[in-house]
Amino acid sequence: MKTFPLDPIEKASIDELRALQLERLRWSLRHAYDNVEHYRRKFDAAGAKPSDVKSLEDLAKFPFTTKADLRETYPFGMFAVPMDQVVRLHASSGTTGKPTVVGYTAKDIDTWTNCMARSIRAAGARPGDKAHIAYGYGLFTGGLGAHYGSERLGLVTIPLSGGMTERQVQLITDFKPDIIMVTPSYMLAIADEMEKQKIDPKKCSLRIGIFGAEPWTNEMRKQIEERLSLDAIDIYGLSEVMGPGVAQECIETKDGLTVWEDHFYPEVIDPATGRVLPDGEQGELVFTSLTKEALPVIRYRTRDLTRLMPGTARTMRRMEKITGRSDDMMIIRGVNVFPTQIEEQILKQPELSPHYVMELTKDGPMDQLTVLVEIQPGAADRNSVARLAHSIKSYIGVTAEVKIVPISTIERSIGKAKRVIDKRK
Ligand code: DLL
Repeated sequence: MKTFPLDPIEKASIDELRALQLERLRWSLRHAYDNVEHYRRKFDAAGAKPSDVKSLEDLAKFPFTTKADLRETYPFGMFAVPMDQVVRLHASSGTTGKPTVVGYTAKDIDTWTNCMARSIRAAGARPGDKAHIAYGYGLFTGGLGAHYGSERLGLVTIPLSGGMTERQVQLITDFKPDIIMVTPSYMLAIADEMEKQKIDPKKCSLRIGIFGAEPWTNEMRKQIEERLSLDAIDIYGLSEVMGPGVAQECIETKDGLTVWEDHFYPEVIDPATGRVLPDGEQGELVFTSLTKEALPVIRYRTRDLTRLMPGTARTMRRMEKITGRSDDMMIIRGVNVFPTQIEEQILKQPELSPHYVMELTKDGPMDQLTVLVEIQPGAADRNSVARLAHSIKSYIGVTAEVKIVPISTIERSIGKAKRVIDKRK
């Protein structure tokens, strides 16, 4: 049977990989310095010279880049090429203020497409597969990123975008795709719709789900895999660094995401001090692009929390499944809580559905956390409230009020789910 061969660099030795990274790092730093005034000023202020870089560790001498830098230079101030070389813009809507704008040259699109093709292959795609793409098309990078990668791999690419859930179900039933690419929360909404139409999700044609764009837990993985009888594989990326396909879980190991390190150099730092942490330690993920032309990013702080681990299915390092973003962290009476921790506790109770939301309110000076969760269709509420409140208290250490709400009360996402509603302000 025809198979998809790996890129040679996926099998290269660590030494080969590090040598390539160093060469590319020097190019990328020089490119940013020479062509982006904002970088030049910041590097000069830090006394960091691209020409002084002799090892990958020297990268630590360079200043971080954050969303604030992109906002300050909005919309195109960090572009490193003239506009006649930019062929695409994407944007991510921040929670506040202006969107973050990112640009691509034709070569950037080609690199991105190759990384996405590599990702879909690592997730287990086979020649002849049909890929149903339900990530949003448009300024969001999910839809088009997945689309180009799927076509490059030679799959039958079905561009649904997000929304019109009944139609998603109809086309899954009729076209019988092998692969679905979608946020995990929207996958659940599609599965609910299948059940509503009396279609058994287990019997649908899908063999692989490539899920990302939002945090999701291994408990959620188990639940989706059982419910739809497929392999649920994690994909990671962010617009500033490229889009989806920065890191990808391999189907043969499902043990965290292989970072495509030949294009994106990862570091994990202590978010408070900025110190680079050794591999294995948990902190904030930082990326430096090694090949990007239009928008080089140097030590971009993602706010995502994870740790780096040695490679398994590939030589390149893996990152652990993201537990959350530092911005999503709730501090409830002094205890740090991530939505994924609550998700873990909810999914341990089979009668509770994976549809949930957290509300933050003030009770006098005290923060109050309320978890709203739906019960599974047909399940009886046997003390779920008390049990969930108890497991949240004992595993996470916070007191939460739990409310069971009727089925379909919690808003279904068609893209990234909104898990926290902050009513404190
Ligand atoms: O979400 C790109 C993407 C599209 C990734 C489709 C995967 C699939 P942004 O809208 O810029 O880009 O959001 C990036 O989403 O910093 C993370 O906080 C979060 N995120 C993305 N993938 C994952 C994942 C796209 N697999 C932000 N697990 C990132 C957890 C994820 N969080």
